[in-house]
Amino acid sequence: MIEVSAPGKIYLYGEHAVVYGYPAIACAIDKRTTIKAKELKNNEIILEPKDLGFRSLKIKQNQNKEIELPNKEIKKLDYIKKSIKKIFTEYNTKTGLKLEIKSDLPVGGGLGSSATVVIATLYATKEILGLNTPKEKIAKMGYEVEKEVQGEASPCDTFTTTMGGLTKVRKDKELKNKKPPQIPLVIGSTGKKSPTKKLVQEVKELKGENPGIIKNLFKTIEEITKRGEKAIDKGDLEKIAELMNINQGILDALGINNQKLSKLIYYTRKNGALGSKITGAGGGGCMVALGEKKEKIAEAIKLANGEPIKTNLTNEGVKIN
Ligand code: MEV
Repeated sequence: MIEVSAPGKIYLYGEHAVVYGYPAIACAIDKRTTIKAKELKNNEIILEPKDLGFRSLKIKQNQNKEIELPNKEIKKLDYIKKSIKKIFTEYNTKTGLKLEIKSDLPVGGGLGSSATVVIATLYATKEILGLNTPKEKIAKMGYEVEKEVQGEASPCDTFTTTMGGLTKVRKDKELKNKKPPQIPLVIGSTGKKSPTKKLVQEVKELKGENPGIIKNLFKTIEEITKRGEKAIDKGDLEKIAELMNINQGILDALGINNQKLSKLIYYTRKNGALGSKITGAGGGGCMVALGEKKEKIAEAIKLANGEPIKTNLTNEGVKIN
């Protein structure tokens, strides 16, 4: 039996734009998805999710390494199934597995929980198979799995979860990470689902109908990300926050905001946050507020009917516990 875990993450700048090749800055957080994995000699795959919204189940593999799903509606299961298949196909092997999965990340999502499940599944499976797969390759396979499940995706979630730390990602051009900065953050969860696939599709449609406008918005996000990187390097909290607020305005223009998230964003800005914005796909999920007065910000999140999640940024990517 081995145990691996992978961290969730927040976006400081650039979600959605990153899907179209613009840069984003994200950071791993100290809330993790953990998988206990055991090899089974009979080729069965047994999943025991502790808190992923579905019950324990057995999934079948046939000769072609096809893993048959009992219920296609279970999204997380699709991520797990495709991750296992990916690694079996890549290395032309297979095995029986029992995976026990639990997560500190909020059920509504927004903190990259799908990527944590994908990366922890890939890592646990490669450990069970005794493979010497470098982390960069795990991140790449994870990105391919996300693309298969979601239709469109960027490598940002899977790279950040794999490598940890503060990451800058630009599709096919740049994937780098470094130690996380000292930035005081509080996350606010709406408790509502953030359906990444649907939201990415909606932004795609908006872009299709208004190509010039959306391109300009993405270019502005690119400029925000560039300036944000400099502000982070200087430790200039006010600038980092101001740029988060401008990025939030654009996320609103992209149509991924809603009343619940807005309430959290404006309550926190009125109560100690220098800056606050949606993190991730939006439509529900989470927002993130920057400010030294963490208690006051957490109270504001509660007042706005959200759940505060006190968190620290972490350098630890996927690892064996
Ligand atoms: C979702 O966590 C972030 C998005 O940019 C999608 C992606 O990058 O794959 C909305």
